[in-house]
Order: sequence, then C-alpha cells, then structure tokens
Amino acid sequence: MSEKIKVAVLISGNGTNLQALIDACIAPNYPAEIVLVISNKANAKGIERAQKAGIKTRIIDHTNYRSREEFDCKLSIILSNSECKLVCLAGFMRILSESFVNTWPNSILNIHPSLLPSFPGTKTHERALEAGVKFSGCTLHFVTAELDAGPIIGQAAVPVLDNDTPKTLANRVLIEEHKLYALGLELVANKILKNKEADLHREQSTVSKSLINF
Ligand code: GAR
Repeated sequence: MSEKIKVAVLISGNGTNLQALIDACIAPNYPAEIVLVISNKANAKGIERAQKAGIKTRIIDHTNYRSREEFDCKLSIILSNSECKLVCLAGFMRILSESFVNTWPNSILNIHPSLLPSFPGTKTHERALEAGVKFSGCTLHFVTAELDAGPIIGQAAVPVLDNDTPKTLANRVLIEEHKLYALGLELVANKILKNKEADLHREQSTVSKSLINF
C-alpha cells in the first residue's frame, strides 16, 4: 500500500462532510487516511459516523476549559499525539486562536458554506438570500488567524433559486461541499507526498555526491 497522509477531522455536529471524507478514504489510491476525529460536542452525530468506520474518536468539550487558549492547547497536544499531518475542519463551529493556527501552519483546511470572501462567519445562507445573490456555493481554504480568509484551495458554485429558503440553499451547497472537500484533500495530500518524494531524492543525491567526493 502506498504512503498516505494522516489526517485528523474536527467536527461539532452532523458530520456529513466527515462522511464524505471517510468515503473518499476508502479508495485504495486515495492519498489520505483519517486517524482521529475530534468533536467539541458530546452528542455530535459525526462521532457515530467515525465509530462506525472504525476511526478513533475523542470528545473535547470546550466548556470544560477556562479559556479558548487552554482548549486549543489541549487540542494541539492531542493532534500532535495522533501524528496527523493535516487537520480538516468539517463543521467545527469554534474559532481557533492565533497561537493554535501558528502551531499548524499550512496544515489546517476548512470548508465554508459560501463563496468567500463573500459571507464569512455564520448565517451564510440567510445573508446570501438577503443580499439577493444569484449564485452561492462553498469554499475550501487553508486556515489562517483571520476568520475565513486563508488561501483558497477550491470553490464550487450553485444557483440561488427564487423560492429558496436558507434550508434549501444549504442543502444544495452541502452536496457540493462533499465533492469539493474530498477532491481538495486529495490535491493537498498528493502535493505533500510529492514534496516529500522530491526532498528524499534531493537527500539521496546529496549523499551520493558526498560519497563520490569521499
Ligand atoms: C457545513 O455546511 C459547513 O460548511 C459548515 O457547517 C456545516 C456542517 O455540516 N461550516 C461552517 O459554517 C464553518 N464556519 P456537516 O456537519 O454535515 O459537515
């Protein structure tokens, strides 16, 4: 079996995006594997999905921590212990502190239910309908300290229909989120594997050059 990038997924609720990633990871040549699912909510349905797939789960209830930093610090320790290389936020409804984000540079992915930079934050579908946009969609991006503003990995657009409610629009967008997340994670994981391979070749050629010079 070829090498796979270890991924942790952070959730707070239903976990349909998590399910899309679990399903994608089943393909033998998919370059990532989920090693841990963490929820900040004990009753998150996504935890059941992970358990059903035989993935290790942890509940870290943020209400048990005195500050955001303390919670994030615990999170970071658990993630480090899991040896994951990427952290996928999939409906994780917590803002991460700057120090957490800086501990995991270029390693945290987030799916957001709008075409960023439009409608960052919450209540995206309500705001999209209020604004009268004719297209909405979703964005997969790297997480930086600024909310919903990191480098974009990919986007998918859907039409907004005249009779849409926040719920009908959310459902249409969610279908695209699932495809985009699986594809985007594949791209990012493949890039990491390629860079690793290039590093290895560089190391090997340095070793052979020094042997020639010896
Ligand atoms: C998804 O629509 C995701 O984009 C959104 O929460 C939903 C989670 O659904 N995330 C955010 O709004 C983050 N700011 P899921 O639990 O079924 O994957």
